[in-house]
Amino acid sequence: MTGTVPLYLESTDTKISNIADYLVTECHRYCQINLKRMTMAESRVIPAITLSVSQERQLAYEGAYKLTVHDSGISLQAGTPAGLFYAVQTLLQLLSMASNSIDMVVLPNLEIVDRPRFSWRGMHLDVSRHFFPVEFIRKYINMLAFHKMNMFHWHLTDDQGWRIEIKRYPRLTEIGAWRKDDGNRYGGFYSQDEIRAIVTYAEERCVTIVPEIEMPGHASAALASYPEYSCTGGPFAVETRWGVFDDVYCPGNKATFTFLENILDEVAGLFPGRYIHIGGDECPKVRWQNHDLCQRLMKDSGLKTENDLQAYFISRLAGHIETLKKSPVGWDEILDGGAPATATIMAWRSMQKGVEAAEAGHDVVMTPMTYCYFDHYQGVADEPKAIGGFTPLQTVYSFEPIPAEFPSAMTSHIIGAQGNVWTEYMADSKHVEYMVFPRLCALSEILWSPRETRSWADFLERLKPHLLRLKARHINYRQLRI
Ligand code: ACM
Repeated sequence: MTGTVPLYLESTDTKISNIADYLVTECHRYCQINLKRMTMAESRVIPAITLSVSQERQLAYEGAYKLTVHDSGISLQAGTPAGLFYAVQTLLQLLSMASNSIDMVVLPNLEIVDRPRFSWRGMHLDVSRHFFPVEFIRKYINMLAFHKMNMFHWHLTDDQGWRIEIKRYPRLTEIGAWRKDDGNRYGGFYSQDEIRAIVTYAEERCVTIVPEIEMPGHASAALASYPEYSCTGGPFAVETRWGVFDDVYCPGNKATFTFLENILDEVAGLFPGRYIHIGGDECPKVRWQNHDLCQRLMKDSGLKTENDLQAYFISRLAGHIETLKKSPVGWDEILDGGAPATATIMAWRSMQKGVEAAEAGHDVVMTPMTYCYFDHYQGVADEPKAIGGFTPLQTVYSFEPIPAEFPSAMTSHIIGAQGNVWTEYMADSKHVEYMVFPRLCALSEILWSPRETRSWADFLERLKPHLLRLKARHINYRQLRI
């Protein structure tokens, strides 16, 4: 192909039209190829690229696509817009390999029929421990999309900063978004207008955002803003240390639930995706043990332990999420004391927690620390300071989301997996990129491709040209040093 290449759309769907626009922009930016949207009548120039919706049975699966390169051009077909979007990503990869010569692109004739293995192909980002600008959130989402990942878990609240504007509770961002770091004011937050624009950007890339509002623990920033929803009444400061803190939301006070429900109402209005994550991890119980109102609630409700009180807390808010026509997600601690039946569980402490969740009938997203925590070290020497752990690229690539000897009748409960990026030791976006890439590349292959095709040696060979694609996208990836 040379010069300007025609791009035909055999569809009037606006989603597909947006995908075509995306292909035009990315092709120009990263493959130095000019595509021009035309109708068949406007141009008889060949070869052309054609995007079309197909009713073929093999393409009925969500995300499936067929990409054919033939003498008269390139054809991208899928049953759904998401499938066409993934076909576009594969085409961009092929073109970036082929476009070494400046004025001519040559691709061999080929046919690819492809579909994802898992429906939850996720990446998380903690924007509380460090705050990252809107531009970086967009870049991160775009890189997820480039790797055919479809879930962005946005960890928006924690002890060290509240990052989402809530109109009804302005102090959450007036106070809760800011902390004193070495005497300097540090922080930031995303306005609702910014969030709406990010949601649209993600939708155009077939990425669903899963917002996380942490509760009942990891609540220092919220309680610094509204101390009346704690057990002691405060006062509190937005945390400057990393860790787990004893002051958490007070379930003994009914008003705490109203406060959190009102927040969740605004969150549900901003994010069109199916899921809202309500945390549930690492909640100390000492304040509840020593608080009359909490103890009275336990007695009145027949709750024997503080774990039962946490289960009560989570199930009340999960119930509220369902009234908003959304599905709750929580970290695996919400299994302690019994999780609400409809909750999706993120197994982070171990794969075994995911097995227990699946056995109890929950959908499970596997995010075990040993494979999926990209805040861990990825090399033994000369690495920037990290929180701990050792999870090099090869370990990530060896991850298998379906546990060994897992009953095949239950595998449908494992809906996918996710990489988590806690940012205590990542002060800027370049550092996040260094920790995420190329580990994300390994995870994306695990989540997309059939298990039988996995080969470490082959992956390393394919990673080499892929790193050039990351370079073209100005990603500060970690060089291969294996
Ligand atoms: C977690 O890493 N505390 C979910």
